[in-house]
Amino acid sequence: MFRFLKKRRLEAKGMSCGKTRLSKSGNRFFERLEENTLMKGVIILTTSVILASLCFLSGSQDALTQFFLSLMVLVLAVTLPLVSKDSPLVKNSRLTLFLFLILLQLGLGKLIQGQSDVGLSQILIPYALAPISISVMLGAPTAIFACVTGALWWLVLQQKGDPGSLLLVLAGGLTGILSTLKVRRRSRLLRAGLYSGISIAFLSLIWSSLPFIQGGCPMPLSFPWVQAGLCFTYAVGIGLFTGVVISGSLPLVERMFGITTDISLMEMADLNHPLLRRLSLEAPGTYHHSLAMANLAEACAEKVGANSSLCRVSAYFHDIGKLAKPEYFTENMPTGENPHDELTPTMSSLVIVSHVKDGVDLGLRHKLNGRVIDGIQQHHGTTLVEFFYQRACRQERDAQSGGGLINANPEDIPRVSEESYRYPGPKPQSLEAVILGLADAAESASRSLERPTPQRLDDLVHDLLQDRINDGQYDEAPVTLCQLQEIAATLVSSLGSMMHSRIAYGRRKDDAKA
Ligand SMILES: [Fe+2]
Ligand SMILES: [Fe+2]
Repeated sequence: MFRFLKKRRLEAKGMSCGKTRLSKSGNRFFERLEENTLMKGVIILTTSVILASLCFLSGSQDALTQFFLSLMVLVLAVTLPLVSKDSPLVKNSRLTLFLFLILLQLGLGKLIQGQSDVGLSQILIPYALAPISISVMLGAPTAIFACVTGALWWLVLQQKGDPGSLLLVLAGGLTGILSTLKVRRRSRLLRAGLYSGISIAFLSLIWSSLPFIQGGCPMPLSFPWVQAGLCFTYAVGIGLFTGVVISGSLPLVERMFGITTDISLMEMADLNHPLLRRLSLEAPGTYHHSLAMANLAEACAEKVGANSSLCRVSAYFHDIGKLAKPEYFTENMPTGENPHDELTPTMSSLVIVSHVKDGVDLGLRHKLNGRVIDGIQQHHGTTLVEFFYQRACRQERDAQSGGGLINANPEDIPRVSEESYRYPGPKPQSLEAVILGLADAAESASRSLERPTPQRLDDLVHDLLQDRINDGQYDEAPVTLCQLQEIAATLVSSLGSMMHSRIAYGRRKDDAKA
C-alpha cells in the first residue's frame, strides 16, 4: 500500500515511468513442505491406504498377507532413496509423483485383470507407464528403482506368486527406461513404448512356448499362430498407446510438479521464440554472443555431467535483459559511438547491471521455465563491473588531488563504494549456473584477444576462473575444484576451435560486453 503511494508520488514528480519490474521469488510455504517429515508421513499413509484397497477389494483369500508384504515393499521404497541425498525422492513432490505413477500402473493392472477372463489380459497391462514417465522426469536410476518396486508390488498382489508376470513387468519397464536415456524429442516416447511392447510380446511368446514351464505360464497360450499374432498385436498396441498417453500428459505433469524434462527444454530451444527473434533484430551482437556461448556451455556441461540441454537454452536467453537498452552494450554499439561517454560511472554501472533484473522481468512475462530464469538471474553472480568501478576510483582520486586547488573539504568528495558496482546476484546455485557464468565471461573476453593463440586463451580462461574463485563466486554452488578445471579446459579447447579462422579484433577493455 505504502509502496503504491510512494510510486504514485514519484510518477507525479516525473521520477518514475510507472512500470513495475517483475522479480522471481520462491514460495517459502511450498519450499518448506518439500522436505517436511510430517508431509512424508501423510504420503506414506495415503500410499498404505491405496495398497490396502488394492489387496482387500480384490477378494483375495490372502489379502492380509498381501497387505503386510506390500507395506514391507513400501518401507523399502521410501527408506532406500533417503540413504542418498542426491536422490530426487528426497523431495516430497518427487516422492508423491514416484508412488502415484507406480500405484496408477498397479491399479490399471488389477482393473484389466479383473475385467478380462481372456488369457491374453496379462499383455494388455501398461507395464512401461511408470518406468518411462519416471525415467523422463526423474532420471534413469530412479526409474530402475521404480521398475523393481512396481515389479515386487505386482508379484505380491498376484493370487499366486507368478514368476512369468514378474518377468513381463521387468522386461517392459527396463526396455522403456533404456529407450528413454537422454531423450530429447517427444516422438522418442512413442518409440520407447513400441520397444517395450515388442519386448513384452517376445518374452511372453518365448515363455509360453517353453515346454518345461507350461504350468506356470502367465498366458495360457498353446502357441497357435493366430494367438501368437494377437499376443504380438496387443503388446505392441498397448506399448504405443502408453507412449502416446505419456507424451500427451507430460506437459501437464511437468507443470503440476515443477519438473523440467529435456524434451521441454529442447522445445524451448527454438530460435523462433519471440524473445530470440527480437534479440536477433534489436541486439544482433548479443544474439550472436548467446549462440556462440550456447555451444561452449553445452560442451562444458557434457564434460562434467551437467544438464547440457538446460545450459544451451539458458545461454540463448541469458542476456535478453539487454533488449531494454541494447546500445549500451559493446557488442551492439555502432563503431565510434559510446553512449557511456555521456554518463557518470555510477549511471553506466546501473545500466549494465540492470540487464539482469530486466532479463528476469522479461522471462517471467514470457513464462520462461523457472530454471532458465535462474540462469538469467545468476549468470553474473555478484561479480564487480570492473571497468566502471576503476573509472569511478580514478575520478575519485582526481577529485581528491584537485580538491586542494578549490579548497574543497575532502569529506565532501563522494566515496566510491565497491558494493554499488556489483551485480545483485545471487551467486550461482547450481552446476549449470556456474558453467553459464564462465562460458559467458570466456566468450566475451576472448573477443578482445588480438591474436588468440592456445596459450593466450588458456591464460585468459584460467585468470577468469581464478578471479571468480578468489571473489567467492562459487561458495554456494555444488561444484568441485576438479569440475572447475575441467570446465576451464573445455572452454579453452572449444574457444580454440571456434576462433581458428577468426580475424583478430581490436582490444576493447570494457565490462559492458559480458
Ligand atoms: Fe549478462
Ligand atoms: Fe552474456
